[in-house]
Amino acid sequence: MRADPITGRRWWVIGASAGLGRAIALELAAGGASVIASARNARALEALAREVPAIAPLPMDVTSDASVRAACDEVGAPYGIIYAAGAYAPMSARNWLPGQAETMAEVNFVGALRVLSHVLPEQVAAREGRVVLIGSLAGFRGLPGAIGYGASKAALMHLAENLRADLGGTGVRAQIINPGFIRTRLTAKNTFAMPQIMEPDAAAGRVLAAIRKGRFATSFPAPFAWIFTIGRHLPLALFQAMFGRAPGFRDGAGNPPDKDPAP
Ligand SMILES: NC(=O)c1ccc[n+]([C@@H]2O[C@H](COP(=O)([O-])OP(=O)(O)OC[C@H]3O[C@@H](n4cnc5c(N)ncnc54)[C@H](OP(=O)(O)O)[C@@H]3O)[C@@H](O)[C@H]2O)c1
Repeated sequence: MRADPITGRRWWVIGASAGLGRAIALELAAGGASVIASARNARALEALAREVPAIAPLPMDVTSDASVRAACDEVGAPYGIIYAAGAYAPMSARNWLPGQAETMAEVNFVGALRVLSHVLPEQVAAREGRVVLIGSLAGFRGLPGAIGYGASKAALMHLAENLRADLGGTGVRAQIINPGFIRTRLTAKNTFAMPQIMEPDAAAGRVLAAIRKGRFATSFPAPFAWIFTIGRHLPLALFQAMFGRAPGFRDGAGNPPDKDPAP
């Protein structure tokens, strides 16, 4: 029988002070894992650790090389790592806010590179492990009002494919998990309707189920996720027209995307 990837294993959750990452840390601990919980907010992490003794706080800022290096030195070779750090600001190309796109790219994507550059060699040397990247349905194709965020999630999805290609035979498995809307402080910034929005604990349950299944890519919830997985193969003009018509997907300024976007 295949060993459970969670019970008795050491997992590192990055982005564990709030929202989805916090819920994942709790689910992992409930599943019998020992969990290292990282994010910038040390007090939130300590409160989480007080609640659940199997969780150990380790503050880290993924945008800082020094902070990431120090934390990685402390963690060594975790069995599993879940990269759930995230930054999001709804932003249209028509209303570009200086610095926001850079922050989203740094936190959502570059931070993952920083962490993996230290952790992955340790996992490969240990000849076992999991790397789980939290992407988003917003990473599949260009959506209105997603400057910076969409590209950072697309980059994460591409990185996961690179990892899959390179890690065959090493004992380390890469997974990308693309959730739809989850009720967190991140989506509290959205003023539009969010179809099939999930609570963080329900979404964390889906993440753990995906880890146990071990499939490379998982997107949820259905049927909302199907629009993106199938939509990937539609002509771009048709895909974007669908979202231009949906009131939920107007850009930050309330505009639908251009009818005939520039090539
Ligand atoms: N909510 C959704 O609808 C949704 C949908 C699809 C995917 N996702 C993804 O799910 C993940 C979690 O998002 P969420 O919705 O749970 O948002 P959230 O509640 O805002 O949580 C984001 C987490 O990232 C951490 N973080 C932010 N900047 C960081 C930094 N510089 N260094 C270290 N940690 C940092 C935050 O902690 P500190 O502030 O303490 O640092 C927090 O723990 C993100 O990758 C997000 O893109 C969310």
